[in-house]
Amino acid sequence: MKNTVKIGIVGCGFVSEYYMRTMNLYKHVELVAVTDLIDERAKKFADHFKVKCCENVETLLKENIDLVINLTDPENHFDVSKAVLSSNKHLYSEKPLTLSLADAKELESIAKANNLFLSSAPCTILGPSAKTLKNAIDTGKIGKVLVVHIEMDDGPIYLMNPDTWKTPLGVPWPYKSEFDLGSSFEHLGYPLSWIVTMFGSVENVVASSHCLVPLKMEGKEPYSGTDYSVAVLKHNSGVVSRLTCGIVAPMNRGITVTGDKGSLYVEDIWDNNAPVWFQSNSSFKLKAARKKIITRFGITRLVFGLNKKKLPMIGKSKASFKGGNNVNMDYMLGIADLCDAILNDRDPVLDIDLVMHINELTLAINHPNSVGYTID
Ligand SMILES: NC(=O)c1ccc[n+]([C@@H]2O[C@H](COP(=O)([O-])OP(=O)(O)OC[C@H]3O[C@@H](n4cnc5c(N)ncnc54)[C@H](O)[C@@H]3O)[C@@H](O)[C@H]2O)c1
Repeated sequence: MKNTVKIGIVGCGFVSEYYMRTMNLYKHVELVAVTDLIDERAKKFADHFKVKCCENVETLLKENIDLVINLTDPENHFDVSKAVLSSNKHLYSEKPLTLSLADAKELESIAKANNLFLSSAPCTILGPSAKTLKNAIDTGKIGKVLVVHIEMDDGPIYLMNPDTWKTPLGVPWPYKSEFDLGSSFEHLGYPLSWIVTMFGSVENVVASSHCLVPLKMEGKEPYSGTDYSVAVLKHNSGVVSRLTCGIVAPMNRGITVTGDKGSLYVEDIWDNNAPVWFQSNSSFKLKAARKKIITRFGITRLVFGLNKKKLPMIGKSKASFKGGNNVNMDYMLGIADLCDAILNDRDPVLDIDLVMHINELTLAINHPNSVGYTID
């Protein structure tokens, strides 16, 4: 019986090295070959990680591989993904899956017609933090969930000299493409994957997206990509989520889930090991929390039970490194799960329906038909 899945990578850019940091932890995943439009980049990567370097996508697709990881920049996602699925290989794409709904639907129909898996990043919902939060929700820890506040504000990273950031192999962070495409396209997948997995599909979106700081770096050209989005999403389950995503407001990547019996909080949805905090509701505590004389001191907070409780974690991330954002994020979680799904003939957690829905919601928020009611 087959016990490994052979994979190829298209795109040896900035993020590819993050994947390699934990690749070895997953013995059922075997990287065979890579390619990049920039020959030198592909060669350097292949030499360093001791895999085959292919001339281009076409030659890579002729290799004996089952699954291709598309790590190209978003503008190239569709063409590469289409070539992969059309040559009968399973696909795992970086986010966003595509830049248009029509492109996503085309990929979906090729995958379904060829009986292939189509999966996509981000994969933080497979981490211990998300699993612990989901378990607390599913087991009724906070009763009926009513409202979710989720933030994906990464702070004004354009003030942090992003034109100097490089990987250990010397690949620069593609700040132009990141700022031109916009932080919503780049980052909405993270909060959306959490709320759709936990509270179900979304039936209605009201959104407002903006480019607030076109001139992000001194001496550089202006960028037009969205750098701040706000959305309110109504899930079929009745839950309402309020989401923000951007690189203008101070860093805040937390989620607060409010139910009729209490609330749950995770400080950083990028950190696979971020603790999950619980606070129960009671009339006594709610009244106490309004009194400064009680909230001001540690001892009175303790006596009145105002401190959140840390829930026991379900698992611990195997990744022993801190990523570029100084958080424990294992980029391989989604691929490891997909490879296990291929070997065991089951659906991956990041299955085609989830991936399509997240892509559709990303497009809806980033390109809202209406930005609200204009006051005369
Ligand atoms: N940069 C990050 O911090 C980060 C983090 C998480 C996810 N991502 C996602 O990962 C993806 C890649 O981002 P990146 O930062 O590595 O970009 P990048 O520009 O550094 O790398 C992309 C690479 O793909 C190659 N490429 C493009 N089209 C190709 C083709 N047809 N055939 C072969 N190679 C091709 C380019 O030459 C380039 O080397 C994006 O979808 C991005 O959203 C990036």
